Amino acid sequence: MSNFIKISNKIKNYDKTISVSGDKSLSIRWVLFSSMAKGKSIASNLLLSEDVLAAINAIKKLGASVKLKKNHCTIFGNGPDGYKYKKNIVINAKNSGTLGRLIMGILVNTPFKIKIIGDKSLSKRDFKRIAEPLSKFGAKIKLTEKGLPLTILGSKNLHSIKYVENRGSAQVKSSIIFAGLKSEGKTIIKAKKSRNHTELLCKHLDLPVKVKRVKNYEIIEVQKAKEIKPLNYKIPSDISSGSFFMVLTALSNNSKLLIKNININPSRIGIITILKKMGVVIEFKNQQNYKGEIVADIFIKSSKKLKAINCPIKLNSGAIDEFLIIFLVAAKAKGVSYFKNISELNEKESPRLKWGKKILNKMGIKTITTDSSIKIFGNPDIKINKQIVIKNFLKDHRVFMTSVIAALSFGGSWKIYDKDSINTSFPSFLIKLNNLAK
Ligand code: S3P
Repeated sequence: MSNFIKISNKIKNYDKTISVSGDKSLSIRWVLFSSMAKGKSIASNLLLSEDVLAAINAIKKLGASVKLKKNHCTIFGNGPDGYKYKKNIVINAKNSGTLGRLIMGILVNTPFKIKIIGDKSLSKRDFKRIAEPLSKFGAKIKLTEKGLPLTILGSKNLHSIKYVENRGSAQVKSSIIFAGLKSEGKTIIKAKKSRNHTELLCKHLDLPVKVKRVKNYEIIEVQKAKEIKPLNYKIPSDISSGSFFMVLTALSNNSKLLIKNININPSRIGIITILKKMGVVIEFKNQQNYKGEIVADIFIKSSKKLKAINCPIKLNSGAIDEFLIIFLVAAKAKGVSYFKNISELNEKESPRLKWGKKILNKMGIKTITTDSSIKIFGNPDIKINKQIVIKNFLKDHRVFMTSVIAALSFGGSWKIYDKDSINTSFPSFLIKLNNLAK
């Protein structure tokens, strides 16, 4: 089967209700917490993507038992110290930074060395950011250059740490929280604002984790968890997956869309604030609290007039996975949009700031970039009449999906490679798009 997609027609207008698959961050966290819980945890709407399946395979190797039927999953864990560590285990985190980094926090007490490997993209990413704090707990971590393959050997005598997390990385923060839950004493993290799903799940599970908000930071105090309760959880749907449909709708001529049951955790809705500032009509409907997370339906309409944005830095962390797709809105907005302090984008599954620039330039949109910023010279009359090929992007799922939305929104004749990259986060992406077009 060919691993590329060709698109040469814009999408027709629609007025529809859709749902997207379960949230990736929450799905992986549910798998990890459940593997350390004592007893049976059940999830529905679990994201069935390669990243999450890699997490399931990882905990199976550590002795948890798992039953999976469509997107319903049952995990039987043996408690926080109940893993059956064996010699020579290899965990393959595949494409998932979240899995590779968070699981290291759980492995700080492994009595045998565990090797962590990943795919080509993950092997280029930075694991020093995790190795450094976890070494302070007493774990011994050996990296290859700055990352994978790595080995981790735990310690029986873990000691709590004090750590300042300055990057605004939820993966670093979460990994330290997991290590703190396994260590004697009080671990204190001063963490720059980032998504807070781990903290909310800890709160819901009554774990010894306290969070105080101080301006742009969280002060998180973590103590050893004697037990972890099983977690029955209906995973809310993923705003990052929904974002492709939001932007498709905003850029189309006369369409409306309702996306059901999305996790609108305030640390994840940067895209909503940004799109609103750019003139897009978006509303939350049926807002509810679900086990500490906020969930709502998102209603969005086509926008006739889009305005450029000078994006405030404080919105960056809440939109970190959505910038590529937001850049497409900037491409059609009137004026020059400016996104700054976003060097972390180049630390993702591919160097995304570079890919954002590349896609825009291929579309005929002028950009000025530095290592940490991009200016996008929008064109409200943008129409593409040429052939565009997108390939060799390290199979970054978000580069693929952004390119598909660009093709359907602006026209031109596109050939986009590595279609199977969607399996990382949103395997039903193309099926959902086809249903919209029907
Ligand atoms: C994630 C955190 C973010 C995000 C990633 C998922 C998580 O990365 O980009 O896709 O689930 O914790 P950071 O660790 O850089 O915040």
